[in-house]
Amino acid sequence: MPNRLVRTHVTAFGLAFALLTASACSGDATKQAAVDTMLDTAASAESTTPASGTLYDRLGAKPAITAVVDTFVARVAADSRINKKFARSDIPRVKTMLVDQICSQTGGPCTYSGRSMKDAHRDMGVTEGEFNALVEDLVAALNQFNVPAREQDELLAALGAMKGDIVEVQGAETGTRLPASFKPAAASGNR
Ligand code: HEM
Repeated sequence: MPNRLVRTHVTAFGLAFALLTASACSGDATKQAAVDTMLDTAASAESTTPASGTLYDRLGAKPAITAVVDTFVARVAADSRINKKFARSDIPRVKTMLVDQICSQTGGPCTYSGRSMKDAHRDMGVTEGEFNALVEDLVAALNQFNVPAREQDELLAALGAMKGDIVEVQGAETGTRLPASFKPAAASGNR
C-alpha cells in the first residue's frame, strides 16, 4: 500500500470521520447523520492540488485493493450489525466481485461481471443503519492500510452514490434478519 501522499491538512472527510467517532455513543440518529454527512462531504470534496494518476493506481493497484477488500470482508463477517445478511452468500464470490468492482470503478483494467447493485441487494432488507455500518467497516480497513484521505474521499464518494440502489429500509436499525425471499447468487465458478 503506497504511503506517497502526506496529509498536510485535515480534510473534510477527516473531520466528518472524527465527528462520526465522537458521536458513536450519542445515539443512532446522530451517528447516521454523521455518516450521511461523511458521504455527502466526500462526494463534494475539493482538493487544492490535482491528483496525478487514476484512483486505481493511487490506491496501489490490484494487490492493494485485494488486501483492503480481504480485511474489509473479515471486519464485516465479525460485525453483528450486518453479518446476518451474508449468511447464505458465497463469500469468495463477494470478495472477487468487490475487487473487480472497485478496480473498474477507479479506472483500473478490470471488468466487473457481477450483478447491478439493485439486483445484488434485492430483498435483502438492508437498512440505512446497516449501510452506514458497512461504510464504517470499510473506513476501518482503509485506515488499517494507511490509505490517504484524498483516496478515501474519492472511493467513498463513488460507493456512496450506490446507496439508493442498496438500502431498502429507511431507519437506523442494524442487525436485522435476512428475509427468506432473498435469493443469493450462485457460488463462484458455477455462474
Ligand atoms: C457501497 C456499499 C456496497 C457495495 C459497493 C456493495 C457491493 C457488492 C457487490 C459488488 C456484490 C457482489 C454482487 C454479485 O455477486 O453479483 C455484493 C453482494 C452482496 N452484498 Fe453488497 N455492497 C454494498 C453494501 C452492502 C450492504 C450495506 C450489505 C448488507 C448489510 C451488503 C450485503 C451484500 C451481500 C449479502 C451480498 C451477497 C449477495 C449474494 O449472495 O448474491 N452489501 N455487494
